[in-house]
Amino acid sequence: MASDVPREVTIKVRENGPYKVTGPIRLVDRDGTEIPLEGDDVALCRCGGSGTKPFCDRSHRTIGFTAD
Ligand code: FES
Repeated sequence: MASDVPREVTIKVRENGPYKVTGPIRLVDRDGTEIPLEGDDVALCRCGGSGTKPFCDRSHRTIGFTAD
């Protein structure tokens, strides 16, 4: 049975890693063009080192990114 209650969006800051976004979101670029997502979970880069921005490609591990 489907629920009429929208799922909440949660943004979790991963220690030394990305923003983990869970829930029904719409991601758009600076021009407003929608960036296709697979599923409701996405990891967004916050280290600046990703080769697939805005997504995390785990480069934070190799560049030694640290942040709480
Ligand atoms: S946070 Fe993972 S590549 Fe930047």
